[in-house]
Amino acid sequence: MTRHLYGRGLLPEVPSWLKAELSGRGGFLLSSSPVLALHGQRVAQHLRAVLRLEVLELPDGEAAKRLSVLEQTAEALILRGAERGSVLFALGGGTVSDLVGFLAAVLFRGISWVALPTTLLAQLDAAVGGKTGVDLGVLKNALGAFHPPIAVLGETEWLTTLPSSELRSGLVEAVKTAAVLDAALFEELKRRWVRLLQRDLEELSWLSAKVAQAKAALVATDFEDRGPRALLNFGHTLGHALEAVTGYSVSHGDAVAHGMRFVASLALPRGADGKFWAELLGLLERLGVPKLPPVSEQKLLAAIGRDKKTQKAKTGWVIPFRPGEAQWGVEVPDSELRESLRRFLSDGTGS
Ligand SMILES: NC(=O)c1ccc[n+]([C@@H]2O[C@H](COP(=O)([O-])OP(=O)(O)OC[C@H]3O[C@@H](n4cnc5c(N)ncnc54)[C@H](O)[C@@H]3O)[C@@H](O)[C@H]2O)c1
Ligand SMILES: [Zn+2]
Repeated sequence: MTRHLYGRGLLPEVPSWLKAELSGRGGFLLSSSPVLALHGQRVAQHLRAVLRLEVLELPDGEAAKRLSVLEQTAEALILRGAERGSVLFALGGGTVSDLVGFLAAVLFRGISWVALPTTLLAQLDAAVGGKTGVDLGVLKNALGAFHPPIAVLGETEWLTTLPSSELRSGLVEAVKTAAVLDAALFEELKRRWVRLLQRDLEELSWLSAKVAQAKAALVATDFEDRGPRALLNFGHTLGHALEAVTGYSVSHGDAVAHGMRFVASLALPRGADGKFWAELLGLLERLGVPKLPPVSEQKLLAAIGRDKKTQKAKTGWVIPFRPGEAQWGVEVPDSELRESLRRFLSDGTGS
């Protein structure tokens, strides 16, 4: 079981159970150069109080999630003395936790790792739930494993240096999780939204912990993603297609925000609660997601079809009807999909 810890000043107070778990072992801190420059030194200093530590640099962003990086990093680790008892620390966003988690899953057939997520998205989503992996040229996240870290330590202070576009991405995924899983959380999110947008650290700390907890509770019911874990795909069916057809020029978070907006046109005719949907769209609107560039309806439909094929267990749409109440695997007839998409695209592509 992964332990999740969120808050301010976590590292100076590494809890005794983790100290006991780590003591006497060799540790490797893996991170990219921008994150190391911002936070690496302090993190390394605190970890060195607990165990022997070496630091290894990874490429920044999605470029870290390559098999070539996995191979080079594994070789570097072995040359520096890594063995089965070593622990890897993933300091960075979701790209770092995906790569390092996968490396930990396959190195010596599985070693321990600790997630130190530095983006809001990684704190409340990517580092939670045990999915790890790398991309292939033809498909994102094509190779991977379920290999949860022993702990996730989400230090709120790290979020102070986050660019606002990255903050927005995390907030988009927070809206997604609250909308499909937890009515009380959705209610709180509305209440705290302005302070969250202002990057209030107490609020962000609360948010990471709560959203991660909601995700972890769902994952516990469907670890291998064969059933209800598909709920977390809300907004991602169109979102993934938007990323693909724009050549990834639209960020994942922004694409998912547009993807959730689109689902309104499928949800409302099926009897979803209008007030809830107005609130959900209101939250997204206040995020200031940039408008979509022009996109072809045909290409989008083709990309949606491809996305569904690669996610066999999750064909169908995720449609929230009321706060915390959503259905997954909803089949939408092609004619309705085409019509809704046409209206969505001609309706002004903005938020
Ligand atoms: N495994 C899962 O369940 C899961 C879930 C969601 C997303 N993901 C994956 O997560 C990845 C996206 O993660 P992400 O959004 O964190 O992106 P990311 O890891 O690319 O980080 C985004 C950028 O933020 C910078 N950064 C990180 N922390 C910072 C900080 N504290 N201050 C300033 N800059 C900082 C990084 O240098 C990077 O350039 C994708 O590859 C996606 O597939 C995985
Ligand atoms: Zn997502």
